Amino acid sequence: MEMEKLVSLCKRRGFLFQSSEIYGGLNGFWDYGPLGVELKRNIKDAWWRDMITGHDDLSVLTGAPAKYQMVGLDCTIIMHPQVWKCSGHYDLFHDFMVDCRQSKKRYRHDQVRGRWVEAKGKKIFVSTTAEAAEEEAETERKALKFFKLRSKNADELSWTSDFVSLSAMSDFAEVLGPDANELGTLTPPREFNLMFKTIVGALGSEDDAAFLRPETAQGIFANFKNVVDSSRVKIPFGIGQVGKSFRNEITPRNFTFRSREFEQMEVEFFCRPEESQEWYKYWRDRRYQWYLDLGLADERLQLRDHDSDELSHYSTGTADIEYAFPFLPSGEFGELEGIAHRGNFDLRSHMEGKLNPNTNPLELETNEHGQPKHRGSGKDLSYRDKETNERFIPHVIEPSAGADRAALAFLCEAYCEDEAPDEKGKMQSRTVLKLHPRLAPIKAAIFPLVKKDGLPELAQQIYRELKQDHNVFYDETGAVGRRYRRQDEIGTPFCITVDSQTLQDKTVTIRDRDSLEQSRINMNDCATEVARRIAGKGKVCSENPS
Ligand code: GAP
Repeated sequence: MEMEKLVSLCKRRGFLFQSSEIYGGLNGFWDYGPLGVELKRNIKDAWWRDMITGHDDLSVLTGAPAKYQMVGLDCTIIMHPQVWKCSGHYDLFHDFMVDCRQSKKRYRHDQVRGRWVEAKGKKIFVSTTAEAAEEEAETERKALKFFKLRSKNADELSWTSDFVSLSAMSDFAEVLGPDANELGTLTPPREFNLMFKTIVGALGSEDDAAFLRPETAQGIFANFKNVVDSSRVKIPFGIGQVGKSFRNEITPRNFTFRSREFEQMEVEFFCRPEESQEWYKYWRDRRYQWYLDLGLADERLQLRDHDSDELSHYSTGTADIEYAFPFLPSGEFGELEGIAHRGNFDLRSHMEGKLNPNTNPLELETNEHGQPKHRGSGKDLSYRDKETNERFIPHVIEPSAGADRAALAFLCEAYCEDEAPDEKGKMQSRTVLKLHPRLAPIKAAIFPLVKKDGLPELAQQIYRELKQDHNVFYDETGAVGRRYRRQDEIGTPFCITVDSQTLQDKTVTIRDRDSLEQSRINMNDCATEVARRIAGKGKVCSENPS
């Protein structure tokens, strides 16, 4: 599938718009249109229902080591700055960037790649930020231009190594920057914290600095004690949260894949340390299955364990669920969700030490050995098992998903071009989004075949009845074939048509978007039939008592 086609459909049919488009847009920020908001809401609702409210606390589910409970939370985006100090984000959540003095452009250090090339007795490193598929052509074009050679003399270039990353380079003086035409214009890499900073209060100074959360997880850790004390949960249990997170990404790209404002769907699952490996495996498999159940194809999904040098500062083991997004080079996958074993890092960190109310929480205090002093809340965040009276700091397994990346993956997977017969039975090409019915923005469209003979009134009656439980759409304009196509293109799984036979026997046709099968059902059964068809494919995902 060509990504441009999906991007254009998203804009044309109202799934996604560039934020502030009338002012030229703002890089890394996206708005969801009337259909996009429904799709994303359905994803978040499916997640919330499947992970939190629909969870069966009383049964041992397939693959789970034991019964467990699930509850939810909704925390603020701005929290006490000390939260980010203790979580490690203030000191460690950064990327490296390089600037180009000539083009004034900024690049993420790890994303600049290129090749060594020699010509006219000079050896230089030609760098590029192009996608891998275009990289080779791009480096050749730049090398030819730099050495003032014409393309017919391309064999005068000699390539001395395969693609390497800029990170492996020590001498930036020999680098031809991605958008430069002279050597040595790139600065050495500099650290850049990804958190957005703001000031709290009208008279705020640097001492009142605060941050927009870069993950929803910390709100859960900061409320661990509140939840345990107020909701009678017992370990093992999980707390889920869905909400916005913000990261000042250096190079937002690939449509919504890497945005600066995005939504996360996170669970922090608290368990006994000695049982944590089993729970880690359970959540990896459970979350992988969730994407399969909602329609992502097995051959485009993969579970990948992180190498030790990839692990975040808190993690003792992480696996990513990855999807073969069509904008990536063939064979490459992009992260949809991370499942991390966070050990007791966060609770311990928020618990230890004590914050001095007279100091700026973000200033680093050091101990007598010059090492940074740890300053947590000083509150006891350990857990007491009421049956055994044992006290311990729980270990945490964290399945952390992105709602926007999930929406993008479901859209990529759903996009399809095939053929369907028109009213005269002639095959016509169509664009169709084969979205899972649970995720489809509109569940059914209702059409009167013609705008007369009382058909619109009957169709509107069905529309109103269905509207009580589902997002449905009424359309009486244009040939019915065109109306089907308009719905196929936005993923509506069912179309109900009222025709002259309805006047005689009160039956209507219901058409399935994917199989194109049409069957007649009683018009009074439309609501139950639509509900049955959605539920048939979309029961609570992958929760089966064993
Ligand atoms: N609490 C752990 C955590 O935040 P992460 O791997 O940094 O882990 C989790 O983020 C998920 O959030 C990712 O798998 C991805 O789906 C989503 N995500 C992260 N950064 C994103 C960005 N810049 N744009 C869109 N989604 C993002």
